[in-house]
Amino acid sequence: MAIRSSRRAPPDGFTEVNPGGIDDLTISRDTTLNGTFQGEEPIIVIPDEDAGLSARAESPTLNLQFLNRFNGFVNAYLTGMDPEGRVAFIRADGSVYYPSSGGSSVPVWIPQADVRIPLEAGQQLNMVLPFALTSGRIYYAAGELSFAVVSTPIGEGIVQPAPNVLTDPSAGVNWGFVELTLTSSGVLYANISYVDFVGMPLGMELTVYGGESQSAYGVSSDAVGNICNSLSAQASRDLRPWGGLCLSSSGVPIRVVSPYLYHDLDANGFTTYWDQYGNDVWQKFRNQPLVIDTQGPRGHVNCYVQGDTLNCDGDNRGYGRPTARDIWGCDSGPFGKMSGDNDVHLAVIPRLCAAFVRSTLLSQGGEVQPSLGSSNYYLVDPTNHYSRIVHEHEVDGKGYAFAYDDVNPGSENASGTVSSGQPDTLTIFIGSPP
Ligand SMILES: *[C@@H]1O[C@H](CO)[C@@H](O)[C@H](O)[C@H]1NC(C)=O
Ligand SMILES: *[C@@H]1O[C@H](CO)[C@@H](O)[C@H](O)[C@H]1NC(C)=O
Ligand SMILES: *[C@@H]1O[C@H](CO)[C@@H](O)[C@H](O)[C@H]1NC(C)=O
Repeated sequence: MAIRSSRRAPPDGFTEVNPGGIDDLTISRDTTLNGTFQGEEPIIVIPDEDAGLSARAESPTLNLQFLNRFNGFVNAYLTGMDPEGRVAFIRADGSVYYPSSGGSSVPVWIPQADVRIPLEAGQQLNMVLPFALTSGRIYYAAGELSFAVVSTPIGEGIVQPAPNVLTDPSAGVNWGFVELTLTSSGVLYANISYVDFVGMPLGMELTVYGGESQSAYGVSSDAVGNICNSLSAQASRDLRPWGGLCLSSSGVPIRVVSPYLYHDLDANGFTTYWDQYGNDVWQKFRNQPLVIDTQGPRGHVNCYVQGDTLNCDGDNRGYGRPTARDIWGCDSGPFGKMSGDNDVHLAVIPRLCAAFVRSTLLSQGGEVQPSLGSSNYYLVDPTNHYSRIVHEHEVDGKGYAFAYDDVNPGSENASGTVSSGQPDTLTIFIGSPP
């Protein structure tokens, strides 16, 4: 008993951030959006009224409304790729800022004053997205978020904050983002997601011409603090480093990263976490079939463990036992896709991974996947307690808490997406859902 409690993590066990400078930015697929423009200087395009009108005839636009319901000042940053493939920031007045690295292969700061959209507490701001935008993000931060521009093989890249890098220049800031794409034919896709992290609470409402409004409100205003309390409580139950998923600044939690992103910070913390469960699942399906409901033309498919591999009828290849990292990300090991994978394989990956994440494989009825509803998810250890707890703090059940949260037996759908071909106004609730 004494030995046990001495191994216990500190009461909270949070991970403290340590923000650095421009050299601490991360250039990766997830953080760096690359466009085509390369100029000596940044360019600012101020929409001329006439040009604006003619441009509007060709390119769709979108009304945006930002409601600052956070308990204080917030900066917004709207960035993405314009119809010519150039990376840009759109400012409150609809003018567009095209950053330039001046050819620098190391990142160069983008001046705050050129790109931020300030929002006083309680303020409502209306602005127009002047053109179609791909890979768009609207960031919201209780402070200043650091963005840089770097020369890439194809042009300019905008280097954005990395949520799980402790030395990221923005690591000490409470921030979050909404992702959006407005296609050239005027179809809007906007989403909120907790697959990577929970930060500044953001909710959305979309009004649609000639149709019903859509919403995805996501987490409550005090979600980060409450999720961190629940993770600490879980850590004191199973002595696993759940509290470490909470990133804190001076001890105050500002962001919760998923176990998938936490793996980069602590590759050993959960290494053995799923081992016994994986063994038990493999043992169970040696003598009875695991039935995967492909929910498509291939119907139900039987899978059996032979040797150490799960093989499914009609599948082009089998599945090894997943590691913790495989289960957190659903994209590696047995859950990694390869070219040539057939439709059975592509149907099994999300369903098998979701069944692990939610720990329903050994439950009664768990031999058919998916078949059990959400009241059966996350009931036994081990499980993805991050996903369990994040869902507990969603006000409307919207927002994926792992990559295949859309796998369900019925019409349950945790998708935090709003989408329409006739979008009117996208409203973002910052800091607190309505
Ligand atoms: C953008 O370019 C950088 C540097 O070449 C690269 O590391 C990054 O993965 C690229 N981003 C994407 C989304 O491809
Ligand atoms: C969220 O939206 C972005 C931008 O449109 C898109 O790239 C991404 O795949 C979407 N994610 C989900 C889970 O729908
Ligand atoms: C869930 O809802 C999203 C957005 O409405 C949709 O794109 C997706 O296909 C739905 N998934 C399922 C499994 O119904």
